[in-house]
Amino acid sequence: MEVVILAAGKGTRMHSALPKVLHQIGGRPMLLRVLDAAVSLSPDAIHVVVGVGAEQTIAIAEEAYPSAGINWVTQKEQLGTGHAVREALPGLKQSDADNSVLILFGDVPLITRSTLQRVIDHCGPEQVSLLTTRASLPEGFGRIIRNRDGDVAAIVEELDASPEQKRINEVNSGIMAIPALRLRAWLEALDTGNDQGEYYLTDIVAMAHADEVRTRATVVEETEVFGVNNKSQLAFLERHYQMGIANTLLKQGVTLLDPARLDVRGDVDCGRDVQIDVNVVLEGQVHLGDGVTVGANCVIKDSTIGEGTKILAGTHIEGAEIGKQISIGPIARIRPGTVLGDGCKIGNFVETKNAVIGEGTKANHLAYIGDAVIGDDCNIGAGAVFCNYDGANKHQTRLGNHVFVGSNSVLIAPVTLEDNAFVAAGSSVSSDVPAGSLAVARVKQRNVKGWKRPRKK
Ligand code: UD1
Ligand code: MG
Repeated sequence: MEVVILAAGKGTRMHSALPKVLHQIGGRPMLLRVLDAAVSLSPDAIHVVVGVGAEQTIAIAEEAYPSAGINWVTQKEQLGTGHAVREALPGLKQSDADNSVLILFGDVPLITRSTLQRVIDHCGPEQVSLLTTRASLPEGFGRIIRNRDGDVAAIVEELDASPEQKRINEVNSGIMAIPALRLRAWLEALDTGNDQGEYYLTDIVAMAHADEVRTRATVVEETEVFGVNNKSQLAFLERHYQMGIANTLLKQGVTLLDPARLDVRGDVDCGRDVQIDVNVVLEGQVHLGDGVTVGANCVIKDSTIGEGTKILAGTHIEGAEIGKQISIGPIARIRPGTVLGDGCKIGNFVETKNAVIGEGTKANHLAYIGDAVIGDDCNIGAGAVFCNYDGANKHQTRLGNHVFVGSNSVLIAPVTLEDNAFVAAGSSVSSDVPAGSLAVARVKQRNVKGWKRPRKK
């Protein structure tokens, strides 16, 4: 079995500079989702027909599947789905009589491996296998014409359909498996005598019927084979996909305060008693440990959150390893390379980046902690800034255990504050502070007696 994925179309109806098949569902380009299904079948070869935006499409697919050995076929002019498959013909092996060619569409992204397996199983040397669905809104899709025996006799595209045919709600998914040895002759016989002046792949069903080759249809749920041609369909499918993920999490015991207001763009795995408030976005690989709570309006990307940790509203976390029993936010920004030890507290308007922070350390308000290694039980005061950048290079700040950084201090890296060091509020610390020492680095206060305020002229 060989797979041909059609992905060359202009995607005119998307009104976008991005090739249609690169638009995303659940944060993953549609074409990659189709490739996921194709690869899972371990076919003899995967051919992908590209045209508009080919370079960008190939780059993204090769990055995701560097060793899949995809055979890229360029279709210079988009003359229709039949023409696209014809362009792939020279690369097909088509050796044995019982070989089949499985056609997938780059814009039908939620197809599953098990359904495709059924389609393949129904294809034989004298049988075409087609995947169809009963659509609630059949408009725009090819209608399935069955004969009296219930066999599929033809597919009629929307623009070529009679008013009577338009009332048929069984539609073509575009996915089919065709006996390899028959394919060439049928493709060569295609013509453009239709409303759009294109070579329709769907016409081979009527040809098969004429050749007394049966077409057997497998009917599945419409959302599995829903094709995306415009932004409304993309939005509809995204909601459907998200509802599916939310339901899976609910079944696993996650509490979602509103399943319609969670977006997962990647993979999330949750422990027991995880609770997620509204408008949360989880991206990439996210792990939420037992008892984690995520407040409203949080974004968490590629991060691990330890047991019992509370992420409060409006917090943004990316590329971080967060320990247990920590409180973060509200409105904190945890950037890549942050590692938080158990029992830390990161409060509002605190930003961390590339910072390894020990157990029980607190930065409760308004601080920037960049390029730092901080020990246990330190206290970073409000307004403390780790000055990590000298305008050309980044430098590191190191704090031992039990270090106290007074409010509104700047620590000018590279600098080290040893265990139990204490920085007076408002200091600019540019040289190391030995263990147990107080650093006062600010202009001494002087009070002017009898000071007269300026008067308005
Ligand atoms: C197609 C089917 C229709 C089916 C629907 C399901 C045909 C003629 N029609 O219509 O019966 O109900 O899909 O979603 O097959 N493509 C190319 N080269 C081309 C034209 C298209 O590679 O020259 C690719 C597109 O990138 C897309 C796929 O083929 O991935 C389908 O093309 P599209 O134009 O979206 O066809 P539909 O109008 O949706
Ligand atoms: Mg389409």
